[in-house]
Amino acid sequence: MDFIIVDNYEEMSKSAAAIFVENVNKKPDTVLGLATGSTPERFYELLINEYKENNVSFENVTSFNLDEYVGISPKNSQSYHYYMNEKLFNHINLPSEQAHLPEGKTDHLQEACEEYEQKINTAGGIDLQLLGIGLNGHIGFNEPGTSFDQETHVVDLAPSTREANARFFDSIDEVPTKAITMGIKTIMQSKQIVLLISGEKKADCLYQLVNDPVSEDFPASILNQHPNVTIIADKAAASKINK
Ligand code: GLP
Repeated sequence: MDFIIVDNYEEMSKSAAAIFVENVNKKPDTVLGLATGSTPERFYELLINEYKENNVSFENVTSFNLDEYVGISPKNSQSYHYYMNEKLFNHINLPSEQAHLPEGKTDHLQEACEEYEQKINTAGGIDLQLLGIGLNGHIGFNEPGTSFDQETHVVDLAPSTREANARFFDSIDEVPTKAITMGIKTIMQSKQIVLLISGEKKADCLYQLVNDPVSEDFPASILNQHPNVTIIADKAAASKINK
């Protein structure tokens, strides 16, 4: 794993945006894997700025998001579809038919998972995957205990994850109990991975990722076995590691 340690959240976001812009400029039909959460918000703003300044075009890019809640419609402001439209897709020239998220509002969840995995394969796999990390080490919505062999699947969200994400909802009761997520196997097949981690709250999490053995109890630990991972951390998140 390569580490880029920067002063603060803004620098982390800039550093990630530079990597993504460079990749898309080198390979205009790049397949991107995208993430939600509060960590990449500034990163998306910077990508929009780069697009508006004509430094990058997303016309030929295809994207696949990591995850989506089950049971809420793409129009619902709490959905990850809505998040991506608001924070990125509505502001760049990525054609909507090339921007994919798992379909969480369907009676055919199993088929939706299989179709999603197939679409990723048909696109040639993910070239560059963006990841955030949950406090319990989850990536996408792969909670502790998820098998490393899982492809896109339906998960029961851990109570701690529902609590952490309740800040985006009116109350914890509204936070869905299930989600669809790319599996660890799907994520590990990405050719390159960039993980963003920011803030003191995540310092223990980064410490565990770096020092603990690879284990399904801490899903992100698998990244130690990927050949091309860059972790971009701000000083606060990196305060417990020696890098
Ligand atoms: C959510 C998402 C993850 C994200 C994580 C961290 O549960 N499913 O993809 O990385 O939480 O979120 P945040 O960046 O808000 O800390």
